Amino acid sequence: MKHLISPLDLSPDELSDLLALAEDIYSSPEKYSHCCQGKKLATLFYEPSTRTRLSFEAAMLNLGGSVLGFSSADSSSAAKGESVADTIRVISFYADICAMRHPKEGAPLVASMHSSIPVINAGDGGHNHPTQTLTDLLTIKNLKGHLDGLTIGFCGDLKFGRTVHSLINAMVRYPNTRFILISPKELQIPAYLKEETLDALHIPYEETTNLEAALPKLDILYMTRVQKERFFNEEDYIRLKDTFILDKQKMQLAKDDMLVLHPLPRVNEISTDVDDDPRAVYFKQANFGVYVRMALILTLLGIKVEK
Ligand code: NCD
Repeated sequence: MKHLISPLDLSPDELSDLLALAEDIYSSPEKYSHCCQGKKLATLFYEPSTRTRLSFEAAMLNLGGSVLGFSSADSSSAAKGESVADTIRVISFYADICAMRHPKEGAPLVASMHSSIPVINAGDGGHNHPTQTLTDLLTIKNLKGHLDGLTIGFCGDLKFGRTVHSLINAMVRYPNTRFILISPKELQIPAYLKEETLDALHIPYEETTNLEAALPKLDILYMTRVQKERFFNEEDYIRLKDTFILDKQKMQLAKDDMLVLHPLPRVNEISTDVDDDPRAVYFKQANFGVYVRMALILTLLGIKVEK
């Protein structure tokens, strides 16, 4: 049985099959509308979520399956002190597959070691968020047509932003990827990612605090929110939260075919006057999240449908 804990749990071939399946579901959803009949997805969310949890639930419902779960630690037995290991042993009797979001790095991995159903990491602390990465890859592939040879700018909170960490790990597998990492000094990507991934694989990247100077070079701009909930003190958050704000004026510096992605939720980092720009694709991106999660559920449950 397979779980999805890290973005690298899928081989490049498995990933490309999954994206192709997601694109087929996107173009003919009706073909897939009954293939999870009788199957149940459990969503175990110990941290807030809108898109990830609801797009998982929409995905399972679109496949004809059912959903159950909880949306905060307070409303589960975690509030009584139950361990993730015990919870998942029990959920394994109630559902066929589960998606788990947890504030502690590694919690979904622990769950997968005690589970008899596939476990999907729906975000673990400031570590990884592999299904957002699948969403991002599908968005880029569908709208750009390819995943290789791209210069990607990550802007905002690159220290705590788990979507950034997972997407970097996924993109280094495509030839000629380069990164421009735009953040305040305090919010640069973690040292382990630089040493074990970027430097180890000789990936070209630069770190900068200058969004305007980076913009003309980018094929993709991946904006992120400063992750308030991971800060140790509020003063630092307040000082750093509005460092970068993308607005209509700055968009004039970007290429005509640059895409702006954002995992959402947006706070202040993209001004709403950018939303009408055809290069702003963050709402489309959220829509792609449903199709890629449908493809993931089918893949992990081993359900095959003739394309
Ligand atoms: C992201 C997350 O939870 O890490 N949101 C999401 O799943 N789309 C990004 C964020 O919260 O800033």
